[in-house]
Amino acid sequence: MANSDVAILILAAGKGSRLKSNFAKVLHQAGGRTLVEHVIRSCQALGAKKIIAVTGHQAEKVDAAVKPFGVGTVLQQPQHGTGHAMLVAKQAIGNAKYIVVLPGDAPLVRTETLRALINKHKKGNAAATILTAVLADPSGYGRIVRKSGDTVAAIVEESQLAPEQRELNEINSSIYCFTGAKLWPALAHVKPNNQHREIYLTDAIAILNAAGETVLAEIAPDAREALGCNTRADLAGADRTLREWKREELMNNGVTIQLPETVLIDPDVTAGEDTVIEPCVQLLGKTKIGERCVIKTGSVILETVMGDDVTIEPHCVITKSRVDADVVAGPFARLRPETHLKAGARVGNFVELKKSTVGEGSKVPHLSYLGDARIGTKSNIGAGTITCNYDGFQKHPTAIGDRVFVGSDTTLVAPLRIGDGAYVGAGSTITENVPADALGIARGRQVNKPGWAGKKRRELAASQHPKKKTKKRR
Ligand code: UD1
Ligand code: CA
Repeated sequence: MANSDVAILILAAGKGSRLKSNFAKVLHQAGGRTLVEHVIRSCQALGAKKIIAVTGHQAEKVDAAVKPFGVGTVLQQPQHGTGHAMLVAKQAIGNAKYIVVLPGDAPLVRTETLRALINKHKKGNAAATILTAVLADPSGYGRIVRKSGDTVAAIVEESQLAPEQRELNEINSSIYCFTGAKLWPALAHVKPNNQHREIYLTDAIAILNAAGETVLAEIAPDAREALGCNTRADLAGADRTLREWKREELMNNGVTIQLPETVLIDPDVTAGEDTVIEPCVQLLGKTKIGERCVIKTGSVILETVMGDDVTIEPHCVITKSRVDADVVAGPFARLRPETHLKAGARVGNFVELKKSTVGEGSKVPHLSYLGDARIGTKSNIGAGTITCNYDGFQKHPTAIGDRVFVGSDTTLVAPLRIGDGAYVGAGSTITENVPADALGIARGRQVNKPGWAGKKRRELAASQHPKKKTKKRR
């Protein structure tokens, strides 16, 4: 069913006092996105004629968050309740036949559920259709008072529940589909008859019912879809569910995730078939992982593109980098932004790379720092090699060619070039270019002093026990 006769209104003006925060409620994050972004994304595929957000608290920031999605905004200042928010948006909504209303703090609702809500509303010729859920613990939510079967008599806010209504466990999600021509006259009759002196959209339901209009309820297929984030605990609950859904998506695409509840994956992450993700891994941002990769425990990978058959050993931290096919990195490797490991490269324990390229088949196996460096193919960088890329004012590059062998504990003072096939002697401090096929060595020559250690030990013993020696002589 096409929805070009539907306008969507997202209520996003509230402060969210129960979060105890300086940030507007709908800008808090769950599952790697702001609450309001989740709501917008669920609405986008409905094909509605427009999506409008009502803003108030931190309106500029909320505007900036929703604009990229083509969502228009209406300012509600001050905020006198959910019904008041609708009245403020009335002009912007215009003459849309149907109006779908969603709270900006309910990030779990799915497009399919919204589609079912709209279809039920249209088919049932209703004035209002409410998305509801049946909860074991309904506290904090407005309750649905059923009239008969599918129809609803009223929504009663928790503070206004009569004693006999406390048993009701079907709740209002605050997601509705209204018929505009029926809603607006009813809303005009809502009075701020509550302790906050607010105009509650929920009160329009009893007014519609009293006028003989049909109010329907659609029960959400998954009760979690109705979760509103009023508190930090609600946010944690929404985050848990969204993360779970993301992991399920990857598993359905052929990715193995061990102890999935310990793995955190952002919504835009992709991973190929037969990739294995071990416990306690985080895959963040727009990270893309190829097929048959193994990401071992404790690794955190952000905004990184990875080819096929890559192994990331435990406890690597990889940020904004490129890792090509067949690379092995870690354990305990740190790849900082703009690092590129080309096919078959090896990066080992306690190696830090920044803005550096390691060529095909080259190895940096242990305890090194390489910054602003380019390493060609099949070179070996010995343990403890350090590029001195910063002189206190500027960064300088180091270029290392193909098949180069850099001995352990070498300091490479940039700017520097080491030609193809060159050797660098272990323990060198290299300050000048090394030509191709040459040996560069820069360290003090070794001197051996025969018998020196034995003599030294005897001298030390004599100075520590002078009395003993005197007694023996007598
Ligand atoms: C609301 C419903 C309650 C429902 C619950 C579901 C009312 C009176 N109550 O309660 O029946 O069970 O949602 O989560 O509607 N907002 C504005 N302008 C305002 C007030 C609120 O834009 O003047 C926005 C808020 O930013 C929020 C949404 O409307 O995104 C809902 O408001 P909130 O204060 O969270 O309502 P609840 O107390 O959760
Ligand atoms: Ca809420």
